[in-house]
Amino acid sequence: MSSVIEDIKSRLNIVDVASGYLKLEKAGGNFKACCPFHSERTPSFFISPSRQTYHCFGCNKGGDIISFVEEVEGLDFQGALKLLADKAGVTLTREKAGAKDERDAIHSALLLATKFYEAVLPKFPDALTYIENRGLTSETIKNFHVGFAPDEWRALGDFLAKKGISESVMERAGLIVRSPKGFYDRFRGRVMFPITDSSGRVIAFSGRILKEEAGKTLGASASAKYVNSPETEVFHKSRALFGFYQAREKARHDDVCILVEGQMDLILSHQAGATNTVASSGTALTPEHLEMIKRFTKNIILALDADKAGLSATHRAIELALDQDMDVKIAQLPDGLDPADLILKDPALWQNAIKNARHVIDFYLELLPELYTDKDTLRAKISEIVIPFIPHLKGSLDQAHFVGKIADLIKMKEDPIWDEVKKRAKTVGVVRETEKLEQKVAQLSRYTRISRTIEGVLVWQAGLENPSVNNISEYRERFTKLIEGSPPVEVVNGDELIFEAEARLQGSEKIEEELNSLLKSLAEEILREKFTVKMAELKQAEINGDVSDAEKILSECQAISKELHTLTKNTL
Ligand code: CTP
Ligand code: MN
Repeated sequence: MSSVIEDIKSRLNIVDVASGYLKLEKAGGNFKACCPFHSERTPSFFISPSRQTYHCFGCNKGGDIISFVEEVEGLDFQGALKLLADKAGVTLTREKAGAKDERDAIHSALLLATKFYEAVLPKFPDALTYIENRGLTSETIKNFHVGFAPDEWRALGDFLAKKGISESVMERAGLIVRSPKGFYDRFRGRVMFPITDSSGRVIAFSGRILKEEAGKTLGASASAKYVNSPETEVFHKSRALFGFYQAREKARHDDVCILVEGQMDLILSHQAGATNTVASSGTALTPEHLEMIKRFTKNIILALDADKAGLSATHRAIELALDQDMDVKIAQLPDGLDPADLILKDPALWQNAIKNARHVIDFYLELLPELYTDKDTLRAKISEIVIPFIPHLKGSLDQAHFVGKIADLIKMKEDPIWDEVKKRAKTVGVVRETEKLEQKVAQLSRYTRISRTIEGVLVWQAGLENPSVNNISEYRERFTKLIEGSPPVEVVNGDELIFEAEARLQGSEKIEEELNSLLKSLAEEILREKFTVKMAELKQAEINGDVSDAEKILSECQAISKELHTLTKNTL
């Protein structure tokens, strides 16, 4: 292990670091929490202070303090190391060349580009005027490092080249585009918005053209309204949320996160005081985006224009969020206005819209009767728009609550509404996390389950300074002998087995008793499996008409059966 990693690990406690993200409960010598990496209601995420590791029995993720930060912050190894080094007050020395240096070079190029775009902005009065007309204050421009890409072919490329950045790095950073005639800048004549990762490093850009009407008729041509960085080694659209870095603290503190669509919406929302806003900025919302948000809060507010309320893209986002057991509210916007427009008119309008946000189903149950006064159309719309959400609600009480409301609203009995919900539920195929876990465990054979449990207890006890089992080596010998000739215990993740053993037996005075009974069960199981195999052989011998063979096998069967009988009798 490198000394820096050792240093960081010796100074930081995984429990302290994790408690910054999770609500931890004590569980014996360990801690448990609801897993930050998958959706669950009862905690199956365990942290061991003595081993400085974590493991989730629901989704099987596990590791040490560094991998925890990687996962929870959406960082790569170096990013997590940097974050932890800062926390621990350790200085990271430069490490050997490799993938990390390559990514570093890309990050440096992106940082230099951000500085370049920022620095040249004051030289372009048109751009400044445009940005100011959109309502951005100079403080906001500074905070979000808004800049401008001159309308030239190589303004940025030449600047970066002078700073010693290679064309290959510029290209891999998504900043320049290769053509038969050479390289040219990807972003030209655009207001530039840097997009950061969850540790605040610039990973991409989104650039808006100055003219208002652009893009409306041209679609995604050269003068599309927005041009974004392509996917690169550091920019993964499905995991990037504009404003996430700035929004995390308030989202955690207020326990709610606001989701908007565009760059301008996001920046102005922050300027209007809603600094818990993030933006999907042009890409469809993904489950990964929602998982990022969920590390900080389970409550999201989507801004919806009543005009757009019927759009399927929004429905998909709502369903994804409900599937992750999030609480989804809708902030209603006046027809045809987006948050940016609204805030430009008056920030208070946006603040009110957020304050008055309603649960997504309440939102539709109020909106639809306003839009469709005809009873039959209303029923049809509710069936088309609202009912499909119901199976995505995780709580059965929530489902019942809203089915009741729908019945009241359209003056129908609940039964036919439930029928429709159930029909939808089948097509949705929602499988709860706990069900998945149960299925997973049930699929393991009894032999595998028991032998893994024994292995866990033995490894756990062997690793303790003061084990409760004194003669571990004897138990180990018995175990090894017992499984001779049977498949060996597969240990993909030893930590998982130890956590399991701890969860079952920590603090118990009957660990030896438990071990003995596990060994006995295992012996039984092995005999049972042998018996099953022999019976199959017997059947085959009978089919083959091989009498002497059949007789031999039969006596073997009887012997096993007898052995099994003695064993079980002794257990009672
Ligand atoms: N978008 C994009 N590429 C485009 C158009 C839009 O990536 N050609 C993304 C941008 O992130 C944009 C968002 O989709 O902010 C929403 O698009 P739209 O509603 O058309 O734009 P606005 O956000 O209203 O942009 P503006 O206020 O700057 O006009
Ligand atoms: Mn807009």
